[in-house]
Order: sequence, then structure tokens, then C-alpha cells
Amino acid sequence: MAKLIAMTNSSPWRATVLTLFPEMFPGPLGVSLAGRALAAGLWELEARDIRASATDRHRSVDDTPAGGGPGMVLRADVLAAAIDATEVGEVRPRLLMSPRGRPLTQARVVELAKGPGPLIVCGRFEGIDQRVIDARGLEEVSIGDYVLSGGEIAALALIDACVRLLPGVMGKEASGTEESFSDGLLEYPQYTRPQLFEGSPIPEILTSGDHAKVAAWRRAESEALTAARRPDLWEKAANRASGQKTPKNTTDG
Ligand code: ADE
Repeated sequence: MAKLIAMTNSSPWRATVLTLFPEMFPGPLGVSLAGRALAAGLWELEARDIRASATDRHRSVDDTPAGGGPGMVLRADVLAAAIDATEVGEVRPRLLMSPRGRPLTQARVVELAKGPGPLIVCGRFEGIDQRVIDARGLEEVSIGDYVLSGGEIAALALIDACVRLLPGVMGKEASGTEESFSDGLLEYPQYTRPQLFEGSPIPEILTSGDHAKVAAWRRAESEALTAARRPDLWEKAANRASGQKTPKNTTDG
């Protein structure tokens, strides 16, 4: 038993993806930061073909919606078998990428990155039989209010957001950025050489060498951007600053 616990603790963070298009993985996660970390064994990716769990002669995975309507629905029995084939008694989040899910937040990403790594189901077609969502306790997650042609690109985005937080994946510089986002504010604008670009100079304060002034300028820029672009975040940040609970925190207790 002790050996099992030791082994479990040492296994890297792992994303298991159930999809009808396993060839879409690792895709962009095979290059750059995530790709190097994958090659270095800092995390693992397992893409499994849902179709491998189909049992009929035609290996069908979908059928027409009960009650009528357009499109096709992913069958509960096929997806349940695919999920059950992946689980080896371990407890891990089971996500379903779906435009009707709860919006993904950095806070949820941080939680997912701290855990063993999720099982992620990628939806296709018109949807997935509700019974398998309920029976296997799938948490529906959306990456934004728009509709993709399937959950694969959403899964790639979610995994990327988690992987960059894993120990050893990212340098120190980037973790600073993380903190500024967990502040609830959008990032301030950045500049680098050349000093003059198409007649536009780098803001003087950034080259002044006065670190306190630079920090104050960045903070003010972050606040102005957040207020202009994301009034929802701005309101939460303002409530936090004045010690009030946000409406969400209030209902959450
Ligand atoms: N599948 C299709 N659209 C999606 C979205 N916006 N988020 C997550 N999964 C999806």
C-alpha cells in the first residue's frame, strides 16, 4: 500500500482525452513550452478514441435525437464504456467540454493543475446523451460564449492553461504574470526596443529606472484596461478592494 501511495505521488500530471479525433492531439501542445515539458516527462497526455468502445458492426457512436430534431447525439452506452475503460480506481475530475458548461476560470485552472489531471470528454454532434453526463458525473466546462465544432480545441486550451502552471514548466518571469491575473485585473501594456516605432516612443516612465513609479503606472494601466474592457472583473476587483463580498462569494457562503 505504501508503495502504491509513493508511486501515485510521483506520477506526473496527466490529461486523458476521450475524442472521436485522437489525431488532433497533442497538436499545438506538442510544441513550445507544453511540448518541451511533455517531452521532458513533466506531464502526460493520453488521447483515446471513443469509437474503440463502439460495439456494433458499423462501430457507430451516435444516433438521431429522441424527440426529433437535427443532428446526431453521442450514445450513452458507447461513451460510458469509453470512460469506464480509462478509470483504474483513481479519483480525478471528469470534464465534458461543452458550450453550455460553466465558464472556465483561472481559479478552476489552478485547481485542476494542482490535482492528478483530468479526464476530458470532447463533445461532437448536437450533443451527448444526458444520461451518461449524469451517470458518470461529468462536469461541463465552456471556454467561452461561442460554439466550436467540437470539444477538442476547447480541451487543448484547457490543458495548455493547466500545463503552464505545473512545477518546472514555466520560468520565474511568467509566474509574475500569473499573479497579476489572479489579482483579477487584465495585464498592463508591454513595450520593448526599438525605443521609437513608427513615430511612437516607449512611455517615458518605463525607461526612467524608477521602479516604484513603473509599478504605479502599470497598476493604473491595468485598472483602466479592466474597467474599460471587463466591467464584470472590475466590479469584483473593486468589491474585493473595499472588503465586500462579491455577489458570487455571498451566495457561495
Ligand atoms: N464545444 C463547442 N463549443 C465549446 C465551447 N465554447 N467551450 C467548450 N466546449 C465547446
